[in-house]
Amino acid sequence: MTADTVLDTKVMGHRGAALLAPENTLSSIKAAAEAGASWVEIDVYLIAEGGLVIFHDDTLERCTNGTGETRLLLPADVSRLDAGGYFSAAFNNEKVPTLLEALECIQSLGLGLNLEIKHADKDVENIVPAVMAVLRDHWQDNNKLIISSFNHQALQLCYEIADGRHLAQLYEAIPDDWQAQLQSIEAYSLNCDYSVLTKEQAQAVKAAGYKLLCYTPNDPDLVASHWEWGMDAVITDDPTQFAFLVENERL
Ligand code: G3P
Ligand code: MG
Repeated sequence: MTADTVLDTKVMGHRGAALLAPENTLSSIKAAAEAGASWVEIDVYLIAEGGLVIFHDDTLERCTNGTGETRLLLPADVSRLDAGGYFSAAFNNEKVPTLLEALECIQSLGLGLNLEIKHADKDVENIVPAVMAVLRDHWQDNNKLIISSFNHQALQLCYEIADGRHLAQLYEAIPDDWQAQLQSIEAYSLNCDYSVLTKEQAQAVKAAGYKLLCYTPNDPDLVASHWEWGMDAVITDDPTQFAFLVENERL
């Protein structure tokens, strides 16, 4: 397997497609596919009793009709939450997906998955083995999977589980010791905020042999230079315009 067999896309939907449907829901994943993305990024979060759901925030209020800390949510209560009404009435009663439901949806659509491990700073010893176990049992195609996290310790634990998954270190601004961090986990890619990335940093990442993914440009004009610097793919809330450019061989 070569690196290029993994990242066979330039366009990943962010939280599914967060501008087109309620983020991190099955509707958002489907919206990303309909908008032309062939991969999606979603966030996995550890809740009570070892449950794993697709959710971004530490608290429930912004994206659901629930209240309180996400980590305290009981698995039995997940399906009672409305994760769509905040977005628009058309999505009333959209559910917070479990990790397993999201994996099944993504595979049924033939999409690749960038799975971001959230909340690892508070419970890294529990979330990483739990996520890796679900992936082991329910995601076979290693060429269509990247596991990412801002939390380096989480990625180190993924690496120690050593099942050959492709790992991506996430940064906002790239720190000085990025190369040592990526080397220590044999990272596949560096994923960072497009708005603070410099040309020199991008070229250094590429020269070191890593893929370079940038979040979250929602207008192609914002990253026109980044492709020239070596950026391999965008992670965007709205894949529509990027997918159009790819389709017309302008990216
Ligand atoms: O994976 C890129 C992006 O999702 C990282 O930031 O906060 O949107 O999960 P966030
Ligand atoms: Mg994310």
